[in-house]
Amino acid sequence: IKRVTSHTLQSMKDHGEKISMLTAYDFSMAKILDDAGIDVLLVGDSASNVMAGHETTLPITLDQMIYHAQSVIRACQRCLVIVDLPFGSYQGNSKEALNSAIRIMKEAGAHAIKLEGGEEVAESIKRIVGAGVPVMGHLGLTPQSIYKFGTYSVRAKEEEEAEILIHNAKILQDAGCFSLVLEKIPAALGEAVAKELRIPVIGIGAGGGVDGQVLVMHDMLGITKNFSPRFLRRYLNLYDEISEATRNYIKDVKSKDFPNDKEQY
Ligand code: KIV
Ligand code: NA
Repeated sequence: IKRVTSHTLQSMKDHGEKISMLTAYDFSMAKILDDAGIDVLLVGDSASNVMAGHETTLPITLDQMIYHAQSVIRACQRCLVIVDLPFGSYQGNSKEALNSAIRIMKEAGAHAIKLEGGEEVAESIKRIVGAGVPVMGHLGLTPQSIYKFGTYSVRAKEEEEAEILIHNAKILQDAGCFSLVLEKIPAALGEAVAKELRIPVIGIGAGGGVDGQVLVMHDMLGITKNFSPRFLRRYLNLYDEISEATRNYIKDVKSKDFPNDKEQY
């Protein structure tokens, strides 16, 4: 199998082929997604929410991200695996950022890292890219800054904020990012950034004019139930299906239907 690389994504943008990306945090699920042909898997710090049950992405640690990343990497034969630098592992200075990126590459065997922010992280990005590690940027709604913004509402709706976002997107490209995630911004702005930048722009709630789409796996499979932003398309309702299977199992155990004669030694 030919592996997807950061260069593959660039040539997909150049040829107008949309990039498919999902999050993954464990071996078994990552294997299904990779076998199905997903282009990119992101070991997102959304693991803090969907794996650990935290309200925000802030508590997850670098060690915990590395554990998830190791599991996903073991499963993937084709897709590009990108790992989020968690909150607190890169904001201190560019040396701290580089050390965190190197730990993810060495200990997990990741192919690239992602971090949130614009101008303020440009120096760190240059240093990480300089060490040979591909970096994906992340602008718009940046969940690690939730306490600064106060809400998870749509970002850059006003002209001034939109111009700052475009400015920061160019800074990230110039700093050496191979790609950029745009989260929860108006579709027109997403399209404008994707046209302005040479590198592929992946959207989540950024409309159809960007170069690819990413969703949190648990949301698109309907494992999460009380999260229904407009941008989310659910392909399954696994919460209900797993719930029903569990209720059936409980019933069969209680009624002594399980195990039957053929299901024992
Ligand atoms: O952590 C995550 O899941 C992400 C995606 C939503 C882009 O950063
Ligand atoms: Na993230």
